[in-house]
Amino acid sequence: MTATLSEKDLEQHFEHTLERDQRIEPRDWVPDGYRKTMIRQIAQHAHSEIIGMQPEGNWITRAPSLRRKAILLAKVQDEAGHGLYLYSAAETLGADRGDLTERLITGRQKYSSIFNYPTLSFADVGVIGWLVDGAAICNQVPLCRSSYGPYARAMIRICKEESFHQRQGFELLMTMMKGTRAQREMVQDAVNRWWWPSLMMFGPPDGDSPNTAQSMAWKIKRHTNDELRQRFVDMSVPQAEALGVTLPDPQLRWNEERGHYDFGELEWAEFKQVVSGNGPCNAERVAHRRQAHEDGEWVREAAAAHARRHR
Ligand SMILES: [Fe+2]
Ligand SMILES: [Fe+2]
Repeated sequence: MTATLSEKDLEQHFEHTLERDQRIEPRDWVPDGYRKTMIRQIAQHAHSEIIGMQPEGNWITRAPSLRRKAILLAKVQDEAGHGLYLYSAAETLGADRGDLTERLITGRQKYSSIFNYPTLSFADVGVIGWLVDGAAICNQVPLCRSSYGPYARAMIRICKEESFHQRQGFELLMTMMKGTRAQREMVQDAVNRWWWPSLMMFGPPDGDSPNTAQSMAWKIKRHTNDELRQRFVDMSVPQAEALGVTLPDPQLRWNEERGHYDFGELEWAEFKQVVSGNGPCNAERVAHRRQAHEDGEWVREAAAAHARRHR
C-alpha cells in the first residue's frame, strides 16, 4: 500500500482480502470499527489470561505433591505467556500495553467472567483445566482462522497449550475419581459449581449479542455464541460419563432429531451481575492485579533506565 491509493482503493483491498479468506496484516489499512473491535477483543482476551492466573495460582503452594505443583506452575506460567503474546498482537494495531493495563486495573476493560469465581478445593484445579480450558479451546480453535493475522497466529500456539491444560485437568480428575469417596465428592462439588459458569463463557445468547453479526462479517468470529456453546455441551457429556461425574442439569438429554444434547436454561441474570462487576471475586481479582502492577513499578523504571543508557 502506498500513499497514492485513495481511501476507496484501500477499502476495496480490505474487502477483497476478507473475501479471499486471506489475513489482514499490521501494514494493511483497516476501517476504524475493525481496529477498535479487534483491539477490544484481543485486550479482553489478554486480560483474561493474566487474571486467570489468580484462581489457580491460589493452589500452587498447597498442591498435594511435587508433581502436581510442577504441573500447576507450568500451566499458570503458560497463561502468563498467552497474555504476553496477546498484548503484543494488540500493539500491532497501535494499542499501548501500558494503557491496556491501566484500563484493566481501573475496571474500564473487561476480562472473562469465569475468573470471578473462587477456587475452593484442589479439585477446582482439575475442573478448571477440564471445563474452563475446554470451553476456551472451543472458543479459540475457530479464532486460528480469524481475519487478523497476528491474532490468528498467536491463537495457534495458544490452542496447542490449552489442549495440554485440558488434558492435565482431566487426568487430575480421573486420578481423584479413582481415589477415596471424599475425593470423588470433591470432584462432584467442583463440577456442580463450575458447569454453568463454563457454559456462560460463550457469551450471551445469539438473540442478545449485538456485535456478533459485524464480527462474523469481518471474519473475526466464525461461529455464533450458541453454536459454540452447543459444541461444548456435546463434547463434555461423554467426557463426564468417562469420569463418572454428573453434570448438574436435569434437562440434559440427547435429542435424536437435532443430533445434539438439549440442556437447561442458563441464568442470565447472574451472568449480567458477574459481568458488571458484582461476582464473588471481581474486586479481589482487580485489586490483586493493581497491587502486582504497583509492586512492579521499580522493575519497569529500571528497565527503562537501562534501555536509555544503551541508546
Ligand atoms: Fe491460556
Ligand atoms: Fe489454559
